[in-house]
Amino acid sequence: MSERLVQLRIKRQAAPNAPATWEDFTIPYKPGMNVISAMMDIAANPVTQDGKTTTPIAYDSNCLEEICGSCAMLINGKAKMACSALVDNLEQPITVEPLSKFPLVRDLQVDRSVLFENLKKVKAWVPVDGTYDLGSGPHVTPQKQEEAYPLSNCISCTICMQVCPQFNEGTGFVGAAAISQVALFNDHPTGKVLKDERLHALMGDGGIHECGYSQNCVESCPKGIPLTRSISRVAGQVMVLAIKDLFTT
Ligand code: SF4
Ligand code: FES
Repeated sequence: MSERLVQLRIKRQAAPNAPATWEDFTIPYKPGMNVISAMMDIAANPVTQDGKTTTPIAYDSNCLEEICGSCAMLINGKAKMACSALVDNLEQPITVEPLSKFPLVRDLQVDRSVLFENLKKVKAWVPVDGTYDLGSGPHVTPQKQEEAYPLSNCISCTICMQVCPQFNEGTGFVGAAAISQVALFNDHPTGKVLKDERLHALMGDGGIHECGYSQNCVESCPKGIPLTRSISRVAGQVMVLAIKDLFTT
């Protein structure tokens, strides 16, 4: 019986200003393999389909269980987490490219620090720093916990930003992930102390009004986060605060 094989076409680029090329690989199939494990096999024997020795592919990954958020890339043209993209579910040759909306570092590695800057911009945290005993936290009802839990599942993968037509240099849009974290922390009994600051951060350029409700984010989020619901909730909060501002400034 002939050996079952897997074919991959991987975009290579040694540096941000180097020319991009494609390399084809054919590797032995293993049950349950995913795109990251396929690239590990290539790294163990970095030889292209036509016999040329090449370098192992550079990519980010860590947890291998869709938790760390680092392995987002374009797989057969769609933004996916490479560690949960099973070869069995993909048409071959499997094309693998870096996310296109973030600065390229090398091969499949991109710099996604814009998300972390946006999270800082909207103060996506509960302010509990202090050197004194803060005592026990406020009571959070089971109903509130259930509402908050899905939003806390964000893994900062940036897929919602990659697929958003409004996330581009022209708009500077903060993106669905940061807005959803505003929804999460504005609803937290301690986190809401920064509610107005978060909402003001979303009023200016690149703020929530840039959202065009394409819904690509909610359809693509690997964690199934109800992003459009978060955006609607935060848009309502921004509007109420903007009206309040009119009468107080
Ligand atoms: S909201 Fe979903 S798609 Fe966006 S960064 Fe978080 S996990 Fe990824
Ligand atoms: S390696 Fe952590 S999400 Fe894929």
